[in-house]
Formats: sequence, structure tokens, C-alpha cells
Amino acid sequence: MKNADFLTGITTSGTPHLGNYVGAIRPAVETSRDPNLTSYYFLADYHSLIKNHDPKKRRESALEIAAAWIALGLDYDNCVFYRQSDIPEIPELTWILTCLTAKGLMNRAHAYKAAVQDNDAQEHKDPDKGVTMGLFSYPVLMAADILMFNARKVPVGKDQIQHLEMTRDIAARFNHMYKKLFILPEVVVDETASVLSGLDGRKMSKSYNNFIPLFDTEKRLRKMIMKIQTNSLAPEEPKDPDTCTIFSIYKAFATEAQTRTLAERYRAGIAWGTAKQELFEYINEILKEPRSRYEELIKNPGDIESILQKGAVKAREFSVPFLDKIRKSIGIQSLG
Ligand code: TRP
Repeated sequence: MKNADFLTGITTSGTPHLGNYVGAIRPAVETSRDPNLTSYYFLADYHSLIKNHDPKKRRESALEIAAAWIALGLDYDNCVFYRQSDIPEIPELTWILTCLTAKGLMNRAHAYKAAVQDNDAQEHKDPDKGVTMGLFSYPVLMAADILMFNARKVPVGKDQIQHLEMTRDIAARFNHMYKKLFILPEVVVDETASVLSGLDGRKMSKSYNNFIPLFDTEKRLRKMIMKIQTNSLAPEEPKDPDTCTIFSIYKAFATEAQTRTLAERYRAGIAWGTAKQELFEYINEILKEPRSRYEELIKNPGDIESILQKGAVKAREFSVPFLDKIRKSIGIQSLG
């Protein structure tokens, strides 16, 4: 196996939604099919331990995420699709990297700083209340995910840019202290892809609970779309497409020409009910086939498991010999 041209991880918490599709799944599916690229996609189940303490939910989320990616066309034969916890070399590398990561670097991580600020705001005596070592050293595990496969490019959301900077920092330190083994990975942020709005107009996200699941029933999908918040303009009044959630979701799926046509109809005064109904019909058509594949996969978790196991074998073709090299370079090796 070759090192990764592209690599990204998906934390196994929550149910995949339309925002995940547009922001992460769709571009990854495309890259997964390119015969000239080696891409690695994995379920970051160790990352999910940080926030979620419910074993059943963790398993369910892993199943749903894997099924969604496969149903939406991930080419798992051409790419490397695996589960983080099936690669024991990753936690081993995590420890090695932990021992050369400055604590000060981790003090500056956004997620950790936000937790401390929350505690300060609530005037807790201990600024680290509720902060586990997992949350604190999360960026090191992420660096190990990336460096284990010497990834060149890492597509992520904006909120992960800092973690990539930290990864480069850690890699450079290793290269300097021991041996130049790591490539410094580049972050890839798709500006257009990350702006899908949710039901309340804010960014569609699990944390805001404003998301539309990808694979609910047709009836539930329609119900969710009808719930999208709009203003109180009357049916015939002209409307601004650029501030409208319905429009932003449509635009993320439709062609440019279709988007232009809808924008004109907004300006001419489309009724909110009509806009919602059409959005539902459009998205439902796109999701129909993947939905039936998804349902089939969820009923056959053994099929998903065997895809992941094959992926782990491919991934370890790279990680086992590479970790061996890393161990030798730091003097952890056989004495004989
Ligand atoms: N932290 C990422 C997120 O929350 C998920 C992730 C874990 C990841 N390991 C990774 C992304 C390695 C890219 C590369 O979105």
C-alpha cells in the first residue's frame, strides 16, 4: 500500500445528515473513485470516546456512518476504508508523539480553551473541571491518524485547521529530533461545501440539533423540510434567495442553471410552501436509491464489517512496516 494522497476521519458520534454529505461525504466519494489517487477514509471511533459515553450509541453511529458512506457510492475497493480502532499502530504512534508534543501547544487548542473559558464564565474553582486527558490531547491522536499514513492532504472543516497546524508542528519536531520520516500534511478546506444551513438558519450541525438526517423515511424527510424556518413574507412578495435556508440547501445539490432558475422565481415571489415542496421532491429523488442501499446495509452489518476488515488489512500494509521504521529511529528495537 502507498501512503495517503488524501486522508480524513469521521468521528463516530451522531447520525449522518445533509450537511455531512455536502461538506465531507460527496467530495470524499469523488476522490475515492480516482484511480490515480490513494485515499484513506476512516471511522474515528477512538475520537468519539471523548464526548460520548454510551457504548450502544457509539456502535450505532459507526454502523450508520459506514452504511451512509458506502450507500452514497464510496469506492471502498479503490480507496482504503477502515476503522481507527482496527489499527493498533495508531495508539502506539500517539504515545510516541505525545512524548514530543509541548504541553503549551495543547494549552492553545480551541476545544480545550473553550472548555476552560466556560468554567471561568461559570466561576468554577477549577478551570479544568470536566476536562479529560482525552479532550486535552485530542490533537495528538489526530496527528497520529494523519502521520501514520504520511498523508499529503487532509480535507476537513474550518474548525479543524488548527489541528492540522499542530500536526505539522509535531511532525516537524519528530523529523528534527529523530529522523526525517514524516511528510508535513496540508489542510484542504472546501469553502463552498461547508456552508449548508440547518433548520434554524445557523450552520447545519449535530451540536445545534438543527440537522436534516440523510436517511430518514421519505415522510420524515418531508416533515423536516417543512420545518425549515422562513420569514413571514406573503406568497407573491419578492424574496431574497441568498439569505434563505431552503435556497442554500437546494443550491448545494442542484446544477448552476437550476439554481439560477430558482433564484429568479424567488425574486418573482415564490410561496414558501411551494419552495419547500420542490426542495423535498428534488432531494428525495437524489436520496431515493442511496436510501434503499442504506436500508439494506443496515440490515446486514456483517457485510459492512467485512468491508472494514478488508480496509484494515490494506491500511496495515502501510502502518505496520512504517511503525517499525519509526520505532527503530527512536531506539525502540530488538537488542539481539
Ligand atoms: N477531528 C475530526 C473532526 O472532528 C475527525 C478526525 C479524527 C480527523 N482524526 C482525523 C479528520 C484525521 C482528519 C484527519 O472532524
